[in-house]
Amino acid sequence: MNRTLGVCYYPEHWPETRWADDAVRMARLGLTHVRIGEFAWSRLEPRRGAYDFDWLRRALDTLHGAGLKVVLGTPTATPPKWLVDQMPDMLPVGADGSVRGFGSRRHYDFSHDGYLEECKRITLELAKAFGKHPGVAAWQTDNEYDCHNTTLSYSAAARSGFREWLQRKYQSPEALNRSWGNVFWSMEISEFSEVELPNLTVTEANPAHVMDFRRYASDMVVRFNKAQADIIRAHSPGRDVIHNFMGRTLAFDHFAVGADLDISSWDSYPLGFLEDRSDQDDAWKRQFARAGDPDFQAFHHDLYRATSKGRWWVMEQQPGPVNWAPHNPAPRDGMVRLWSWEAFAHGAETVSYFRWRQAPFAQEQMHAGLLRPDSIEAEGHREAAQVARELAKLDGELDDKAGRADVAIVFDYASAWAWEIQPQGREFDYFRLVFDFYRTLRRLGLSVDFVPASTPSLEGYGLVVIPGLFTWPEALIEAIKAHEGHVLIGPRSGSKTADFAIPEILPPALPDDVLGVRVTRIETLRADTPVPVQGGGTIRFWREYLEVGADTGTVLTAEDGVPALVARGNRHYLGGWPDQDLLLSILRGLCEQAGLAIRELPDGVRLRRHGRHVFALNYGATPFDLADLGWSRDLAVGEAVLAPSGVAVAGLTDAGY
Ligand code: GAL
Repeated sequence: MNRTLGVCYYPEHWPETRWADDAVRMARLGLTHVRIGEFAWSRLEPRRGAYDFDWLRRALDTLHGAGLKVVLGTPTATPPKWLVDQMPDMLPVGADGSVRGFGSRRHYDFSHDGYLEECKRITLELAKAFGKHPGVAAWQTDNEYDCHNTTLSYSAAARSGFREWLQRKYQSPEALNRSWGNVFWSMEISEFSEVELPNLTVTEANPAHVMDFRRYASDMVVRFNKAQADIIRAHSPGRDVIHNFMGRTLAFDHFAVGADLDISSWDSYPLGFLEDRSDQDDAWKRQFARAGDPDFQAFHHDLYRATSKGRWWVMEQQPGPVNWAPHNPAPRDGMVRLWSWEAFAHGAETVSYFRWRQAPFAQEQMHAGLLRPDSIEAEGHREAAQVARELAKLDGELDDKAGRADVAIVFDYASAWAWEIQPQGREFDYFRLVFDFYRTLRRLGLSVDFVPASTPSLEGYGLVVIPGLFTWPEALIEAIKAHEGHVLIGPRSGSKTADFAIPEILPPALPDDVLGVRVTRIETLRADTPVPVQGGGTIRFWREYLEVGADTGTVLTAEDGVPALVARGNRHYLGGWPDQDLLLSILRGLCEQAGLAIRELPDGVRLRRHGRHVFALNYGATPFDLADLGWSRDLAVGEAVLAPSGVAVAGLTDAGY
């Protein structure tokens, strides 16, 4: 595998006279890939059927002529005005019933069959025209599914699609009534045509109803993506199909979309995310304002690697200040380089910067590019050039595959929907819970893989953690039974049936031969009323009362005598959401039992093992001496005293592994 760099480029934004020079400068910078086309529908088909592909062919020829490989985007995230006017009911509808109109992007409804046909048509025309172009190396389907919260739409198309989906699932209205528990509040229906969408109700809708709507909406994204992927594969043989996912976006099942991709990618904006999508307090945000959260990017690198059999990219990498967060600081010197190397440390094939030149017009004119609007190199350009030089030296020495990480986290999109539907306490958020586990494992210097709940492969992991799992897929129970390493389950795992009801045997609904524990009641806690645990630390937000079987032991107890952590052999159940220090001590204990080597790290320093190497990255503002972790002073890349924004790479033995 060649690790490569790329950039996002919009030839339609610039006079054609500039393209050749741009292409030459990209190649000179050391970029090999360029993504184009994903918003260009109004230029590709200015009127229905009046295709104008000549300019795109010239752009492709120019880029290819400079030796660049093109990722061609389908333009379906931005349907043109004429199309919307011909088919106004393709527009998405918000939960408040108002239509989300034309004038920005993503103004379409995944359920709308007519729009799906339009997308197939333009994808087919593009695939026929360019599928075998020697410059086209890959395709990107659409752009950022769910961006601007567009998975859920409450349109007429969604309603009729949902009714058909329910009919296929339940076969009879009686079965649906039974599964949902519709006898409650007289919600029973006698025809599928009586099912409404779960918005605009007086108070909350039935959680089982909302859950099915969330499943349906996710399936619509999968359907939409697959329709394009199938066409591209048929007409563009040998080219990879890619989609660019987003950060902290859980509205659709990325594993299911990923099954139809060759490569998963995602768009990484560390400073925007810290401001916009982090649960951390202001002190933390201040500390990392110019670096980004030390675990947020890594989390998504690891998660998306799991969604498409290991092949993944960063399709859009923040190169400087963005325009969309509450505050948009400039990255600290060195961070663009660090973010790029961190992606490679987690196994990325390509890191592609967004965007080539800053646009002086329209919505994103305040968003940096590698070039300023006047075409002079911006700060990010210099760091990209450094990464290109370093890659040229090191790439051949790095392994293609990361190899198994130390710990696996079971991840499940349906669990995110379930707890969004029924948080029970304001702070209960699936991402936040899983992220707490992830961060804590990284504080212990460990490398983490994510594993999907429905098709889990747990073999070889010293520790598997399963926080907040909605319901048990049979395959996961079997995998736990077969697993020889340690397993930590909970909180809240197995607390529902697939129909969104409380299991008859009570949560965590595990067979007695797996673990003898029952959750007899739960409570949620204000952030300022955590429950202290004997030996130190607290349970916060969510707390369970556990009934412990005769052959199961209590490991940790709250100060009021309620068991907090119980175990039988290698299997553990955690009855609450621990604060960070308590979680650290629980995970440290389990890792020690599992024989995993721990290296406790300060907040800003992180490690990632990749094949025969280990990477160290410093998000912090102070130097860190890797010799304290047993690293040698002679490293493949970087210095043992890791400067702020520093990157170091060592062979495993040189890093004391
Ligand atoms: C991404 C999107 C790009 C651009 C970028 C700005 O979410 O895919 O088109 O808008 O953000 O940061």
